[in-house]
Amino acid sequence: MRITINQIKEMKQKGEKIAMLTAYDYSTAKLVDEAGIPLILVGDSLGMVVLGYESTIPVTMEEMLHHTKAVVRGTKQAMVIGDMPFMTYHISVDDALYNAARFIQEGGAQAIKLEGGVTVAEKVRRIVECGIPVMGHIGLTPQSRLQLGGHKIQGKTPEAAARLLEDAKALEQAGAFSVVLETVPAQLAKLITKKISIPTIGIGAGIDCDGQVQVINDILGSFTDFVPKHAKQYAKLADIIRKAVTDYQNEVKAGSFPTEKQSSSIDESLLAELETK
Ligand code: KIV
Repeated sequence: MRITINQIKEMKQKGEKIAMLTAYDYSTAKLVDEAGIPLILVGDSLGMVVLGYESTIPVTMEEMLHHTKAVVRGTKQAMVIGDMPFMTYHISVDDALYNAARFIQEGGAQAIKLEGGVTVAEKVRRIVECGIPVMGHIGLTPQSRLQLGGHKIQGKTPEAAARLLEDAKALEQAGAFSVVLETVPAQLAKLITKKISIPTIGIGAGIDCDGQVQVINDILGSFTDFVPKHAKQYAKLADIIRKAVTDYQNEVKAGSFPTEKQSSSIDESLLAELETK
């Protein structure tokens, strides 16, 4: 039985912190699920850490669905959340409903996430009305990076801070079950967390959010293009992978791989018969 939105909301009420991670493929999702992580996001960060794009902007619905299906196949208990890519919910409510439904119907996800506050609240309300759980995402919203002028901390002026609180409340009122706060001053994230009844999930938003989300490649140290300030490396997989690949290549070149252990054999008499042909 998978985690439900009610269980996630109850975690906030009980003061139980929520750990959320991204995953993009079957085998990683299986490990994350087995570790008991309740929320797995198939983030559009897929674009950078898996597909090698410069940003999340080029990510398509088809790419997201392909990876969402793999993550769903690898999980049993986590709620899998599909991240709506750029321009799949901006043009109209109909577009937003259609693409949200694709994540659930084709992708097998249990919820969707989209970026924006007041401006997307009506779309959130309509998606929720269709029975699809929605996670909001405010603060630094990477799909708007061109408009925001890069990856800058959000909510620093009194007006911007008030707008963020308004965004969080609009999402709550529209029926979102939780909201990601990205790159927001810790004190503001704490205030928003206190002011709304749904869980806040922080990334670069301090310790007082109800939960935290990280990109799995960042905490494993497997993505080497850049390490975000908000990320902590719990492992250095890039070093481990480099060493394993180099050891493998060296053994192949030296003729010491494979050994008998990794090989199979046929009957000697059959071999002798084949030699005569
Ligand atoms: O795409 C993503 O991975 C995200 C998280 C960083 C919240 O949106």
